[in-house]
Amino acid sequence: MKKRILKTLISAAVAASMLAGCGQGAATPASSSDAAGSAPAATEEAPSESAAASTESKGGKIGVAMPTKDLQRWNQDGANMEQQLKDAGYDVDLQYASNDIATQVSQIENMISSGDQVLVIASIDGDSLGTVLAQAKEANIPVIAYDRLIMNSDAVSYYATFDNYMVGTKQGEYIRDQLDLENAAGPFNLEIFTGDPGDNNARFFYGGAMDVLKPYIDSGKLVVKSGQVDFDNVATANWATETAQSRMDAIISSSYADGTKIDAVLCSNDSTALGVTNSLEANYTGEWPIITGQDCDIANVKNMIAGKQSMSIFKDTRDLATQTVKMVDAIMQGTEAPVNDKETYDNGTGVIPSYLCEPVFADANNYKELLVDSGYYTEDQLK
Ligand code: BGC
Repeated sequence: MKKRILKTLISAAVAASMLAGCGQGAATPASSSDAAGSAPAATEEAPSESAAASTESKGGKIGVAMPTKDLQRWNQDGANMEQQLKDAGYDVDLQYASNDIATQVSQIENMISSGDQVLVIASIDGDSLGTVLAQAKEANIPVIAYDRLIMNSDAVSYYATFDNYMVGTKQGEYIRDQLDLENAAGPFNLEIFTGDPGDNNARFFYGGAMDVLKPYIDSGKLVVKSGQVDFDNVATANWATETAQSRMDAIISSSYADGTKIDAVLCSNDSTALGVTNSLEANYTGEWPIITGQDCDIANVKNMIAGKQSMSIFKDTRDLATQTVKMVDAIMQGTEAPVNDKETYDNGTGVIPSYLCEPVFADANNYKELLVDSGYYTEDQLK
């Protein structure tokens, strides 16, 4: 009952902010300090006054805050969002924050003060934006959480992402099926690497995979020799390749230095898979394990082709951008955005209406069709 009242309040707030955001769009004239239609180039730093200044556009200006250029996928996300928003007639204020929370906060502050009409935010730390987003709400600027849910803020109108739990499930099922855990006697050795504790997605990836694998750990068919199983023990700060690599170095030297076989390494994404692969190449003498991943980053697709990584999950960032631009359009027109999930993602203030794109299994057998034929990468990029 309480929940229903909360939901109603939130829907009313969302509707109000949508209307207000739209109204504000009409009331905030775009400055003409820049050439028409030109969006500021993406930088890793806080934007200068002029970079953040709005340009002439009948569509209005949309702020897009991305976490970092270090990981390939966010470059693609930013480029797709910029292109598709421009195609839809908006000016774009695209910023990257070098994985630095304070930088992202100040970029968002600039977006608010320079009159951006909708904010699309892929957060670095989902829990660190409450204060700045309260300012956005105060200024009637609606917020779309992009890919990663922003926690504990009632300023978030929508969430556009992939089905994160399904990503983890697919990774877990892959390991289960490849090792034939239902039938084989085992035991098999498994190690686990997930993502940044401040990224809500990491818990969904981990949760989806562990829902498949945990029963086999409990029964002893899967053995985690390092003893590192709980989320906090297998998280990787900032999803950093180097951090995953040094943790794997330590695990190999303590538990597998004599060539004991590692059967599988559950890696929640490609940057952690890369660290694990680098470590195995440098230190491990046993038979090569199954390694999972996510994102189909170029380096990892090359590793899949070379037989060093078993699978990845393809999340077509073009589709995510398309859904997000639909949300922006709906907000700007004061209508409801298309969503396909109204129950999974509670950010602590209530469930955020979400659109979940479907993640797709990728390996050395289907990468051509998925990645090259679809125009995501050229054949040359994967050589
Ligand atoms: C994204 C993944 C990505 C990871 C590291 C997650 O929030 O959903 O696709 O690999 O962040 O950037």
